[in-house]
Amino acid sequence: MNSKTLVAYFTKGGASEEYAKVIAETLTENGFAVEIYNLAHDIPDIEVFDTIILGTGVRMSMVYRPWKKILKQKALSNKHLFMFLSSGMAIEEPDKAVEKFLRPLVEKYNLMPKSLVSFPGKIPEKWAKLDSQKETMKPEKAKAWAQEIARQIQSK
Ligand SMILES: Cc1cc2nc3c(=O)[nH]c(=O)nc-3n(C[C@H](O)[C@H](O)[C@H](O)COP(=O)(O)O)c2cc1C
Repeated sequence: MNSKTLVAYFTKGGASEEYAKVIAETLTENGFAVEIYNLAHDIPDIEVFDTIILGTGVRMSMVYRPWKKILKQKALSNKHLFMFLSSGMAIEEPDKAVEKFLRPLVEKYNLMPKSLVSFPGKIPEKWAKLDSQKETMKPEKAKAWAQEIARQIQSK
């Protein structure tokens, strides 16, 4: 399996970057040819990829605007598309975070993702009331999701 795969993310606090790296590493271990892009630096030409994984964070109920630019590319409709979100809401209500922040964009841009998921984001230390709220990241969730993507694409 050598599916040419793009993992592209936009982050402000670093969570989406951490998850993107775990996803890229996991897919590479599974034999995928992966390129990872920080959309703050480069916008890739998506034509050359078969599988595309797009990740963003959210602040003040707004998914990052520069990330949304890549959703407008028409070529996305011919790709195996997967999308993830890093958010505070996803710490306790991951499904609700998907419905609130990702689903409206999928509808707006007529996308057909094979999977939409949200992962727990980072909480600024001053907001965390308890020590247990300080370490919220769950990289193992991103790894499991990437393993599922690998299975799905490899079975095609
Ligand atoms: C100023 C600020 C506003 C935030 N607003 C929201 C919000 O409206 N909804 C939410 O679910 N999470 C919110 N969060 C949590 C972020 O989604 C979380 O920090 C996540 O890690 C952001 O992704 P990033 O680290 O890739 O930038 C906010 C965080 C900050 C710092």
